[in-house]
Parts: sequence; C-alpha cells; structure tokens
Amino acid sequence: MTMKVIESVTGMTVFSRQAHLQHQRIGLVPTMGYLHEGHLSLIRLARKESDRVVVSIFVNPSQFAPGEDFEKYPRDFERDQSLCRQEGVDCIFHPPAAEMYSSVHRTYVITDQLSAKLCGLSRPTHFQGVTTIVAKLFNIIQPDTAVFGQKDAQQSLIIRRMVSDLNFPVKIMVAPIVRDTDGLALSSRNKYLSPAQRAAAPVLYQALQEAEHLIGVGETSSAKIREAMMTMIKAVPEASLDYLAIVDFQHLEPVREIASGTLIAVAVYFGATRLIDNIIIV
Ligand code: PAJ
Repeated sequence: MTMKVIESVTGMTVFSRQAHLQHQRIGLVPTMGYLHEGHLSLIRLARKESDRVVVSIFVNPSQFAPGEDFEKYPRDFERDQSLCRQEGVDCIFHPPAAEMYSSVHRTYVITDQLSAKLCGLSRPTHFQGVTTIVAKLFNIIQPDTAVFGQKDAQQSLIIRRMVSDLNFPVKIMVAPIVRDTDGLALSSRNKYLSPAQRAAAPVLYQALQEAEHLIGVGETSSAKIREAMMTMIKAVPEASLDYLAIVDFQHLEPVREIASGTLIAVAVYFGATRLIDNIIIV
C-alpha cells in the first residue's frame, strides 16, 4: 500500500473508519515533524503493535507561548515524507493549523497540577496545548495504540494521566530516549545550537550519568546527587540551568531519598535554546 498524506480531518476520519472496519489496529505516532532517529524509533515500535501506522506531523501553535519558537520551529515536510515512506508508514496526517483550530476554538484539556511542575514552571500554558492537541488527534484518528518518547518524560506522564482520567480507549506506549554518539538526546531543537553550544550540550547527559553512577555505588541522598550534577552543569559556561528535579514519577513531587521510580529531569538553556533530558531510576 502506498503511503497516504491526509490534510483534512474528514479524510483522516474516513481512513481510520475504513481501517477499523477491516479490523486493522491503528498505531499513532504524534510528532511536530523535522523527524530524527528518536521519532523513527517510535514509528518502529508502533509498527510492531499495529496493522496501520499513522504519523501526525503538526507544529501545534497552542503549546507554544507568545515569544517562543513557533514560527522558527524547524520544518522539512519533504524529508519527513521520505523518512516515513522508508519506515513503511501507512499514513501521514498533516493538517493545516486552521483545520485543527477554527477561529472559534475555545475548549482546552487541562491536566491539573502535573502540568504546573518542572517544564510547566517556565512554560505555564505548554501542557494544556499538548493535552488538547493529543486529545483531538485521538478523537480524529481513533488509534488503538499511541507511542510517545521518554525524552519528554513529563509529557508522557501527563498523557497517561489524561487517557486514564478521560477514559480514552488508547494504549499508551513510551519508548526509550535515542541519543547522539556523544550522549546528547536527539531533538529537533538541537538544530538551533551554535557549534560551541552543541559541543557543550552533552553536559546534560553527563550530569545524569554521574547521578546514575553515584546511585549505583550506593548514594541515596537527592541533595548529594543534585549537588554533584549542579557542579558539572555550572562548570560549563554555555549552559544556564532552568531546573533540576529529583521527583517521584507519579506526582512529580521532590523526594529526599532516591528510590526505584525516581525521575531525575533536567532542563538547561544554551543561549535561547532550552534542552531537556532525564533518567528514571529502575
Ligand atoms: P515532538 O517534539 O516532535 O516529539 C514527538 C515524539 O517524539 C514525542 O513523544 C517525543 O517524546 C519523542 N521524541 C523526541 N525526541 C526523542 C528522542 N531523542 N528519543 C525518543 N523519543 C523522542 O512531543 C511533541 O512533538 C509534541 O508535544 C506532540 C506530542 C506531538 C504534541 O504536539
């Protein structure tokens, strides 16, 4: 079957209804495009779980605050299409903004509390944009499974919460973080980095690895881990810390002692570019 590119909600609904009439399971990978190996790993996981893989490519305006990078967010739809074709994607849903948000759009999905923490501190309206667009995509595409990345750990937690709270009949899967050879987590935003910032950016992962090492040799104090990580990040002049959170991966509340299920999440500015990374303690 050749890959379909669908731009209208009606067209997408028809595709989804036909697939379900043929008892085919739909796997959805929601993205904002400018695809990299991280996205492709999600597509491969969706492929394993489903008969029809749908990738949505939509730079969602409602998750960007005024002054953020919505306009300059990287876009390359031609390249995205050929990557999806290579991965055997069945359908790309690529709606124009007006198709997703009419001029009279007034309804938002808000996941209380969880969306105010970590990334929500510096991006207070970000997660309501994410949950709103993901809820819309679920309603339009009716996926059986949807795949997200651990790279955005808070996002994956909030989406799980939304799906459970609002009874979306969708199985959520979360795929591991895909990294560059020097440890930097792949992100469409890495493109913004200057050569000096790119060279400095692996400090996020190095600090997380240091935490993992300390925990591995028996350190359980969050304060000690935080101190060691902060020292490493502060030593890099290009890096300016947004937050370093050591929290439980359920309520995102700070923990004093590291335990199984503790999330260590970090957000660092390199100039105007904000990068995030995390590990979850097993
Ligand atoms: P985007 O940043 O394009 O990411 C799409 C999906 O790819 C997300 O689930 C994200 O966690 C995952 N991803 C990104 N980099 C990754 C990496 N290095 N390894 C593994 N997975 C990675 O996240 C969004 O778009 C949007 O908020 C969206 C959910 C599409 C809603 O607009």
